[in-house]
Amino acid sequence: MDGSIYRDIKREYDLKRQIAIDKSKKFKEELYNKYPVLSEIEDEINMLAIRTTKAILMSDELTKQIEKDNLSLKLQKLEKKYDNELKKIGLTRKDLEPKFECEKCNDTGVVSYNGNTKTCSCFSQAMINETYKQVNIYKLDEENFETFDIGFYSKVANKEKYGIDKSPMENIENIRNIALSFVENIDSATQKNLLFVGNTGLGKTFLANCIASEVIKSGKTVVYQTAPILMDKVIEYKFSYNKTGVEKEQYDKIFNVDLLIIDDLGTETMSNNKFTELFNIINTRLLKNKKMIISTNLTLKELYKEYDERVMSRLIGSFTICKFIGEDIRLKKKKMFG
Ligand SMILES: Nc1ncnc2c1ncn2[C@@H]1O[C@H](COP(=O)(O)OP(=O)(O)O)[C@@H](O)[C@H]1O
Ligand SMILES: [Mg+2]
Ligand SMILES: [Zn+2]
Repeated sequence: MDGSIYRDIKREYDLKRQIAIDKSKKFKEELYNKYPVLSEIEDEINMLAIRTTKAILMSDELTKQIEKDNLSLKLQKLEKKYDNELKKIGLTRKDLEPKFECEKCNDTGVVSYNGNTKTCSCFSQAMINETYKQVNIYKLDEENFETFDIGFYSKVANKEKYGIDKSPMENIENIRNIALSFVENIDSATQKNLLFVGNTGLGKTFLANCIASEVIKSGKTVVYQTAPILMDKVIEYKFSYNKTGVEKEQYDKIFNVDLLIIDDLGTETMSNNKFTELFNIINTRLLKNKKMIISTNLTLKELYKEYDERVMSRLIGSFTICKFIGEDIRLKKKKMFG
């Protein structure tokens, strides 16, 4: 693991955690100023806590028990009163808590697991994003299943143009369902990988992002890379003499990350070395049951021509082929929004 990247992200986490805490403190202060009754009840609750401690220190067992029961009843009542006051202004206790980005680790970056602490997946993903400079991953707020719009796809089938009976809209709905069940069954050995084929501007990268977003939300890690950059990195790594820790980490991640997205396959210039490496990546991941999404602008025919048969037979057998059809959404958007 690279120390400086780790430290940078840790610092970022500490900062965003502190900001969330400060914000909620400020919110509470303002709320208490506006509704002093809340602060009064809280004072009473705090007083009770002190009395409870005193009661526990009392020697006489019986008195101690009576006093304790009495106090806990009072405490319950006070808490109910507090909740009621909050309810009157449309709030719950949760609204007064800090809003952390990650609910699993409260932005500490670590979670307890069977009595051990381990790195939270959000932190691992942040490290991956940083080592890979995954610009694309930062678009996940915009490109996810909630913003997925089938309205960009025509309802009119055109067999001559697209070679299938379905309309682009029916086709994309079908592909979206395939994508959703891919997310659902990502760990299953019988779930196939996904191969997105189709012209540019038909939403292949968008859908890959939708899937990435869900997979990250479920606590898994994702590496997104375009084929040219990925293959260059791999070759560079293979043939460099002194490999740094980051480079090794980066290389290993290609094989170990839960989901690997290789975008725009076919746009890179292929060499024999790259062939071998690509085959190695796909093959290793297949053996480990680690899922992949590969997208390409090439047709299947072109893929067969362009790539080694070994790679292709592997691909076809273990990937569900999703053929994107329709008209360039980028152009449509331009027309709509100028
Ligand atoms: N389902 C969709 N809903 C809304 N916008 C989309 C959708 N699919 C694609 N887009 C938009 O259309 C444009 C092209 O999509 P993109 O995924 O880059 O296509 P491709 O990767 O096939 O070339 C992008 O601006 C993208 O945000
Ligand atoms: Mg694309
Ligand atoms: Zn987390």
